[in-house]
Amino acid sequence: MTPQPSPRTRTHLPKRTVSIIGTGSYLPERILTNAELEKMVETNDEWITSRTGIRERRIAAPGETTSDMAANAARAAMEDAGINGDEIDLIILATITPDHFMPSTACLVQTKIGAMKAACFDISAACSGFLYAIEIAQQFITTRTYNTILVIGVDKLSSIVDWKDRNTCVLFGDGAGAAILRHRAQGHGVIATRMGSNGNLADLLAVPGGGSACPITPENVGESLNCIKMEGRETFKHAVTNMVESARQVLDDAGLTGADLACVIPHQANLRIVSAVADRLGVPLDRVMVNLDRFGNTSAAAVAIALDEANRTGRMKVGDYVLLVVFGGGMTWASSVVQW
Ligand code: ACO
Repeated sequence: MTPQPSPRTRTHLPKRTVSIIGTGSYLPERILTNAELEKMVETNDEWITSRTGIRERRIAAPGETTSDMAANAARAAMEDAGINGDEIDLIILATITPDHFMPSTACLVQTKIGAMKAACFDISAACSGFLYAIEIAQQFITTRTYNTILVIGVDKLSSIVDWKDRNTCVLFGDGAGAAILRHRAQGHGVIATRMGSNGNLADLLAVPGGGSACPITPENVGESLNCIKMEGRETFKHAVTNMVESARQVLDDAGLTGADLACVIPHQANLRIVSAVADRLGVPLDRVMVNLDRFGNTSAAAVAIALDEANRTGRMKVGDYVLLVVFGGGMTWASSVVQW
């Protein structure tokens, strides 16, 4: 008897009509090296490199905003896809560092890139945001609600890093990545995506102040409540477990194994996390995209920037299977299998 796909598999499979038709990214010019961080907090290049793999990261110029970086990445993606702003139906922007609480950063990008026919909104899923946004776009395109969607992952983490906290300030950087998704009948594209969250772990990685639960007041302004707080060791463990589990699920949905993958594009938080995930999936490191040594963890932008770099450097050929896998605050995680 022919084995029947599980109901879960059936709902996840017929998605190859949503293609990534262009990618783009933007990194600010200013490089902040480990040597410079040695002068700011009690740390050293050897500790940062051996514990994280990070050698340098980019920092936005004074006055350079999240929407500026996002618009630059979007323009590069539009050029790669060969489309202009008028062809974009929807902009979904993932960030935890919006220019403002209101308006959405997606609306500000709309104006900057001249996509005036688009509807726009932001989403918040920390470092998982880009893949969450890809899945949302995928759903809108599959239901034929929209045809062409700009997805952006962007963060200006330098604006919420506590530069006196060595536990976190060595990890993060600024940047933006973007992709254009479009309906393409019988094309290559997104095969399967899995998203997950665990709000019980919300406190592991958080910005406690600045929102409605804890506004910044004259009394608490010196406590850096508007900065990232993180339980690094616990975050590490959950990151590896959840990335591996969601990657296995999505590979199963797609009927693939690690051996079928030409390229894995993981969240760029820590080389030890990336290595552990690759090892457990049975994928050699030379098939894994790593650029965290140059850019650090750029949160929602990280996997988008890595995807663009993999695209532009020819790491993926048409027809190749690619796994994208992320995790972040929330906690949140997601995996997608794409046929390039
Ligand atoms: N320089 C020197 N020493 C340091 C530094 C530093 N920058 N930071 C911490 N240390 C010290 C600690 O104080 C500790 O000292 P102690 O043993 O005397 O207490 C020691 O180094 C070891 O600290 P650990 O936290 O156990 O170090 P670990 O090996 O776990 O590495 C790290 C820390 C790099 C943060 C790791 O746990 C990690 O990468 N965790 C995952 C973090 C992550 O991926 N976060 C991003 C989530 S994405 C998002 O949504 C934004």
